[in-house]
Amino acid sequence: MTATYIHPSILSADFVNMQAELERISDADFVHVDVMDNHFVPNLTFGPQMVARIQDVSPVPLDVHLMIDDPERWAPEYAELGAASVTFHAEASADPVALARRLRQIGSAAGVAIKPGTPLEPYLDDLSAFDLVLVMTVEPGFGGQSFMPETMPKLRTLAERARNAGVELRLQVDGGISADTIAIAAENGANTFVAGSAVFGAEHPGAMIGRLRELAAG
Ligand code: DX5
Ligand code: ZN
Repeated sequence: MTATYIHPSILSADFVNMQAELERISDADFVHVDVMDNHFVPNLTFGPQMVARIQDVSPVPLDVHLMIDDPERWAPEYAELGAASVTFHAEASADPVALARRLRQIGSAAGVAIKPGTPLEPYLDDLSAFDLVLVMTVEPGFGGQSFMPETMPKLRTLAERARNAGVELRLQVDGGISADTIAIAAENGANTFVAGSAVFGAEHPGAMIGRLRELAAG
C-alpha cells in the first residue's frame, strides 16, 4: 500500500495562537501553509517572515502552498527558509519546470498546483520535474468551501499518467476534504490530503487526522 499523507491547513487555525495550534496537529505528516497575495486570489494571509517563524516552532515539516503572482520571485525564499515542499500555481508561473528545478536545487520538494478549470495536458509530459502535483478541489482563496467532484477525472488521468511513466508523485488534493469526501479523492488516485476546516473544526484534531488517514487508506 502506498503511504497516505494528511496535511492540516492552518488557514483554519487561530492565527494569534499559532504555536499552540501547531501543537494540536503534531500527529500530522506535514502542515499546509497557505500563502495568498490578494492578486492571484482574492484573499490575503501572510508572507515569508511569518512562515519562517512557523518553520522555527512547528513540530511537523512545512508544505507551503503559494497562491501568489510571480512565484519566480518568491517561491525560492520559502525553500531557503526550510520548507519541506513548496507548491506554486502553474497559472502564475512563466516556466513551471524551470522553477521546480530551482526549488529542488535549494533543497525543497517542488510542487505545481492547478485550479479546477485549468487543463492538465500542458504539464503531463514533464511530470518527473515535480515531486508533488496539487489538483485543487475548490477555487483557491478560502477555507470551508464544498469539494468539487468534477475535478476527479483530472486527478484520475494524472494518477494513470504518473503510474504509466513510472514517476513517483505525491498527488495532492486541497479544498473541501473531510470524512465525507476523502475516500472519493483517494479512490481517484490522491495520496496527499489537505484538510483545513475538517481538522481545526474538530474537537480533537489529532483524532480527526487519524480518522482521515484510515478513511483514505480504504
Ligand atoms: C484554499 C486553501 C486550502 C484551504 C482548505 O484555497 O488552499 O488549503 O485551507 O480549506 P478546507 O479544507 O476548509 O476546504
Ligand atoms: Zn492550500
